[in-house]
Amino acid sequence: MTRAAHADTAALAAELDAADPLAEHTRRFVREGDVVAYLDGNSLGRPLADLPERFSRFIGEEWGTRLIRRWDEAWMRRPFELGDRIGALVGAAPGQAFIGDSTTVLLYKLARAAVEARPGRTEIVIDDDSFPTDRFVVEGIAAERGLTVRWIRVDRAAGATLEQVERAVGERTALVLLCHVAYRSGFVADVPGITAAAHAAGALVLWDLCHSAGVLPVGLDAAGADLAVGCTYKYLNGGPGSPAFGYVRADLQGALEQPIQGWMGAADVFAMAERYEPASGVARFLSGTPPVLATVALEAMVELIEQVGIEAVHAKSLALTDFAEQALAAHVLPLGAALASPPAGPHRGSHLTVAHPSFREVNARLWERGVIGDFRAPDGIRIGLSPLSTTFAEVQTGIAALGEELRRATR
Ligand SMILES: Cc1ncc(COP(=O)(O)O)c(C=O)c1O
Repeated sequence: MTRAAHADTAALAAELDAADPLAEHTRRFVREGDVVAYLDGNSLGRPLADLPERFSRFIGEEWGTRLIRRWDEAWMRRPFELGDRIGALVGAAPGQAFIGDSTTVLLYKLARAAVEARPGRTEIVIDDDSFPTDRFVVEGIAAERGLTVRWIRVDRAAGATLEQVERAVGERTALVLLCHVAYRSGFVADVPGITAAAHAAGALVLWDLCHSAGVLPVGLDAAGADLAVGCTYKYLNGGPGSPAFGYVRADLQGALEQPIQGWMGAADVFAMAERYEPASGVARFLSGTPPVLATVALEAMVELIEQVGIEAVHAKSLALTDFAEQALAAHVLPLGAALASPPAGPHRGSHLTVAHPSFREVNARLWERGVIGDFRAPDGIRIGLSPLSTTFAEVQTGIAALGEELRRATR
């Protein structure tokens, strides 16, 4: 890195922060401690600074004083009310989204329901670089139900394309399960095109929205999507282990039977009935008691995104990735690292991956310096850009440090 390159990108970062219409929001998050650049909001979002008051209110005004009565007063409706608000962020009309279990469990429940709804069809289509839990769930369901997994072989610096899906689906396909944004490269899949291709083959589609919920508009209803699941601890800042949300298109709900039938998904929860009768509507996809306490931080972030608007959040995501690309070109790529993410355009998500054989060791050094991105084997560092909490200066600091540590490691 030359001194001039550093000064150029540092000056640009300062200009971009000064002109950022969302800059004030970056100060609404906890920013204490030794971290100088947090580039991992795509793994675990930062907490909002007002959470101590919110938790205190929850304990004082809800849990502590209303006690069990609060279930009837509010908590029973919470999975659906908050689900509708998250649904709105991903383009779903009310009555189709809900807060449920973990992403993994919801993927299982919805994928399993989908294959049961396509009797006689024997294949599940998924790409071979899907997030591990997605692949493991699909392999488990295939083993359980005697189905075959049809793998789409993808370029790890990109993701599953429409053409690949068109070639993979056919009369045997029961379900296509894909990530909207690839966890490794940040590649954004063509939701309307792929959904239409799967439907033309008579299959259902389940979208994993973990890396898009709260940062990219998804347009589920507009695309005619069938099913979706997304986590809430990344760009929805719900905190470690906060529950996932699910989406089931309204006209499909009555036709699907999920495999974990529990009392919270029953038609009359407190009837204490002898036999399970599924609820009508989206409630049938619940199983056990909703994780209400784990939605307090999530609700705070949903409120903030509603205020700002998902389009504005996405606009800043694009500006951040664009700047990160310039900073990488100035500080890191000249040292032999390679960008392993799509170029700017319709396939770019909110994180970039850069690859080099010494990045495992480089990333460990960066963490010691308070520069937090994440290493993904075999050789990638992901730079996750969470628009409401990340400053351009932070990106500059982090990427300049990445360049310094890479230079040191390869000297
Ligand atoms: C694409 C994707 N799917 C699923 C998960 C995780 O699932 P769970 O929330 O059950 O741990 C992640 C976690 O990073 C992910 O990136």
